Amino acid sequence: MPLYNAKFSSFGSFAPKKVVNNFDMEKLVETSDEWIRTRTGMFERHYASAEEAASDLAVHAATNAIEASSVKYKDIDLIIVGTVTGDHPFPSTGCMVQKKLGLKNIPAFDVSAGCTGFVYAVEVARNFVESGNAQNVLVIGVDVLTKITNWNDRNTCVLFGDGAGATIVSRAGKGDISRIIDALIFADGSQSDLLYQAAGGSRMPASHETVDKNLHTVYMEGNKIYKNAIRSMFASTEELLRRNKLEVKDIDWVVPHQANLRIIEGLAEKLHLPMSKVIVNIEKYGNTSSGTIPLAADEAIRSKKIRRGDMIVLTSFGAGLTWGSILARY
Ligand code: UT7
Repeated sequence: MPLYNAKFSSFGSFAPKKVVNNFDMEKLVETSDEWIRTRTGMFERHYASAEEAASDLAVHAATNAIEASSVKYKDIDLIIVGTVTGDHPFPSTGCMVQKKLGLKNIPAFDVSAGCTGFVYAVEVARNFVESGNAQNVLVIGVDVLTKITNWNDRNTCVLFGDGAGATIVSRAGKGDISRIIDALIFADGSQSDLLYQAAGGSRMPASHETVDKNLHTVYMEGNKIYKNAIRSMFASTEELLRRNKLEVKDIDWVVPHQANLRIIEGLAEKLHLPMSKVIVNIEKYGNTSSGTIPLAADEAIRSKKIRRGDMIVLTSFGAGLTWGSILARY
């Protein structure tokens, strides 16, 4: 039994200034605005500059989240960053964020779970808060996929953008209506070869050859991932509702990972959920990996779509393979 309840105190987000649209992509590879729109629902993406790394985006999003809450900087007692495109292989981007926010003597670490990084990081934070080991956890989902994109591969390069989102997972007070009710996270490492970055780790350290062969970029078998995506987000969401004795009609909003509008629509159809209850902003940002869910949630909260007390489901899938869902009253 948890000692305490955890809740989302607030959200924040950030996307870099440079915007690239489908017509810009047409100049880069053999593609078209029509193909990208109809196959993915994307139109624009934000790209980080040469000087911007994951922690730079993360700190902007974190600052926005902290300012939107009543939590003071000094009250944050843990930082968790979900990312696969950290500033460095080591140390963690969490440590970079801690340094930039000037927070001292608190733990900070990263979670690597592909596009499910934010969902995994929230689930870790929830456990810290429920067990009484933390009171206010700064959780960030950030990715800068354009830094590991193969610009000659039309199958992947049109899909990705850069962005960050953050939340503060806090101990809920007595009588607080906000609560993270439950969560489920999963992995299937036997399918890790469907989506990965081949070189740069201890399996294949960086060499002239790995650079020449473009092995430091994203490799993805999009079609196989696509089918897995709908199945896994549906299964984890359905199980989460079932074990909390809830039905789809009890959910006010689903905030899904934004990888492809057709995947999102496929999920909604399987759940018998109207698209009017699904938060979608893929046309503006593309796939920002761990950034998509907190970015979409933050926009929906700021535009007053998602309100305090609403029942929400966050659901994602990604490299690993990994997937999972979170059920919360915002
Ligand atoms: O974030 C977590 C992980 N990522 C994902 O969730 C992505 C999941 N996958 C997808 O969203 C989709 O599979 C894609 C958007 C990546 C691709 O859509 P698809 O409907 O599965 O297309 P496909 O891969 O089956 O390719 C269909 C055709 C191919 O041509 P042929 O072989 O039929 O002649 C591709 O070469 O579309 C072609 N194609 C393109 N054409 C124009 C692939 N990329 C492009 C492109 N522009 N950018």
